[in-house]
Parts: sequence; structure tokens; C-alpha cells
Amino acid sequence: MAKVLIQFAHPILSKSRVHKALIQSCANLNDVTINDLYERYPDMYIDVDREQALLRAHDIIVFQHPFYWYSSPAIIKQWFDLVLEHNWAYGSKGNALVGKKMFNVISCGGSREAYGPTGTNRYPINQFLLPFEQTARLCKMTYLPPFVIHATHRLTPDQLIDYGTQFRTLLAALAAERIDFQHVEPLDYMNDLVASLANQPV
Ligand SMILES: Cc1cc2nc3c(=O)[nH]c(=O)nc-3n(C[C@H](O)[C@H](O)[C@H](O)COP(=O)(O)O)c2cc1C
Repeated sequence: MAKVLIQFAHPILSKSRVHKALIQSCANLNDVTINDLYERYPDMYIDVDREQALLRAHDIIVFQHPFYWYSSPAIIKQWFDLVLEHNWAYGSKGNALVGKKMFNVISCGGSREAYGPTGTNRYPINQFLLPFEQTARLCKMTYLPPFVIHATHRLTPDQLIDYGTQFRTLLAALAAERIDFQHVEPLDYMNDLVASLANQPV
């Protein structure tokens, strides 16, 4: 089994529709740890030792958050700045994260079309996520494609439940090591893989 760590960040979870549904759907999954950063660190003072221990204890690191201003909520930036120390995460002696996998699970108001060359946002989501991808590479981790939920304001309650089921299926498959990463890495979105997992038991 692989150990999956969800680094979750939503500054106003009480008003969330998407991430509330995702978090509820993945409760009580074996080998999946949810680390709610805003709940744990409401003052943004991050316990670096605790976070580094969590990273060491897990194989797959998932950053789950709404897409805010073409990026993540602030605590994730704070987390990167403090936790990924030189000669721990990167640098000539920084090998703590070597070989681990990392990806983002994000929701955004814009549609998939809006994140294209003719859309309002001009660039694909994957390009806005380049700081995550390059950070993963610097730390000798493998960056996987994101799981993306678009056009959030138009989602019906049934669609939210469906995304929750997809997310749970994906996490269970990752934990059970049922995913061939050679097939995943070339994909634009992790969503494209989830359909093929749909008939597998969770
Ligand atoms: C401060 C803020 C910034 C946002 N920036 C973006 C953005 O850059 N691109 C986008 O597509 N949606 C943006 N949105 C929309 C959110 O991504 C969307 O409301 C959220 O993913 C919905 O998830 P939730 O129901 O869990 O809150 C923004 C929303 C807020 C509140």
C-alpha cells in the first residue's frame, strides 16, 4: 500500500461547496491522511517539524485547494516557504522527498474552455501550476497531472456527489497502488484516468 497525504487548504470551509463535498467523500479511507492546514494553523504559524515528519511518512502528496487568483490560497505558499528547507527538501544534501509523488486537486470558477488559448484566462491550468511542478522536480519528486473541477458555480448537487465519488475512487486506487504512473504522466488532467477506474471497488 502507498500512504497518501492530503494537504488541504480552504480559508472559508463553511462557505465551500466543492471542497466540503470532496473532503466528506474521502473520510475514513485506509492509508489516506487529511491535513487541514487552515484548521491546524489558523495563525499561519506552521509547525515545520510536524509537517516534515508527515511528508516523510507518506508516499504521495496531494495539494487540495480552490484555485485563487490563478494560484493557491496563501497558506500553501507559506507552507512551501517554511517546510521545504534547503538541504532537507532540495540542495546537495536535501533528499527527504526523493521518489515521492505530488499533484494538485483544484476547483476553479472558470470552465475548461476558459483556460485555453481563446479563453478569458488564455493559458491552460497546467501552466498556472508550473510553480508546483517545478518545485516537485527540484525536490526530486514526480509531479503528476492535476485533478481539476471546473465551472464550480454551475455544479449541481448531483455533480458534486459525482466528483466526490471520483475523488474517493482515485485516492483508493493510489493507496492500493493500482495505478500505472507511466500512463498517468502524459495526461493533461488526472480526471482522464478516473473514468477508467470507475468500475473498480473502493
Ligand atoms: C479569492 C478568490 C479568488 C479566485 N480566483 C479564481 C481564479 O483565479 N480562477 C478561477 O477560475 N476561479 C477563481 N475563483 C473561484 C474559486 O476557484 C471557486 O469559487 C472555488 O474553487 C469553489 O470551491 P469551493 O466551493 O470549495 O469554495 C476565486 C474565488 C475567490 C474567492
